[in-house]
Amino acid sequence: MTGIKQLTEQDRKARAEANEGLPTLGFETGTPYDDYVGTATLHGLQRTVTDVPEELPFLVTTQVMELYFGLLRAEWRLAQRQLDADDVTAATLTIRRTVRHFEALNAAWAALSWLTPAQFNSFRDALGEGSGFQSAFYRHVEFLLGNKSEALIRPHRRNPEAYEELVEALHRPSLYDSVLAFLARAGHAVPRSVLDRDPAAEYGPDPEVEAVWVEVYGGPLAPLAEALTDLAEQFSDWRYRHLMAVRRSMGAKPGSGGSSGLSWLERSMRREIFPELWTARTLM
Ligand code: HEM
Repeated sequence: MTGIKQLTEQDRKARAEANEGLPTLGFETGTPYDDYVGTATLHGLQRTVTDVPEELPFLVTTQVMELYFGLLRAEWRLAQRQLDADDVTAATLTIRRTVRHFEALNAAWAALSWLTPAQFNSFRDALGEGSGFQSAFYRHVEFLLGNKSEALIRPHRRNPEAYEELVEALHRPSLYDSVLAFLARAGHAVPRSVLDRDPAAEYGPDPEVEAVWVEVYGGPLAPLAEALTDLAEQFSDWRYRHLMAVRRSMGAKPGSGGSSGLSWLERSMRREIFPELWTARTLM
């Protein structure tokens, strides 16, 4: 925001009057919009590696999704700070807001649903070994949702900044860990073994946590449970739509990132987030 001239409500009224209701058309330097949004940088980032027309929508859609991964990371860290401060109302609102972000992120899959195998093949070789699997921000998203895996941060070893952030994220509590710690402080019987577990380890479902969710649904914290369930559903949608995009554009061929492709993705989709929030429903 530095360098941007701030305006008050009064300034805006005076301008609108001076402009006789029309927008301001003259600026001494570039427009304030460009300064704020960083349009020159943003539009300079669409560096396609082929002349194939279908590559640009592929790249832009990927970049849009990457930005959303960063936004989700920032928002869930905020929700964690709010939970840590026992401000569950604020945390629930933040989580609800991220459900909307996720809807927008998932809607972006439509921008790739037209991609046929022939079109994808026409630029795929030029992408080399590049794969969304190597997105550090996506890994942050998964870690915050509780899907921890040390192995999946290894591709970032040669990028010390990204790697250190991921190591830190691996060892930090996930959003789900923060929720469970909050529920324990709120008087719910979250077992000690869950509260004291190694946050870097893969989360395994616990029947006592399942019982906690059944109890939560009968009380004032039910909106938090519902917001988390919405989030889990949106995340499942992202994975499913990604899988469909893969199936449509390359079938069961191996992935650029070195995996078997479809079958690897199907396996990774089985790692469900917030598991007890789903299984508890059978007991309600
Ligand atoms: C039609 C286009 C796409 C195809 C064919 C495709 C293909 C694949 C494949 C085969 C994998 C498995 C890893 C590997 O590469 O071997 C993968 C993983 C992944 N892709 Fe895509 N992808 C597409 C679009 C996207 C887009 C637009 C994004 C957005 C950033 C994305 C993000 C990811 C992520 C985050 C993973 C890792 C998933 C995980 O860890 O479970 N993909 N993709």
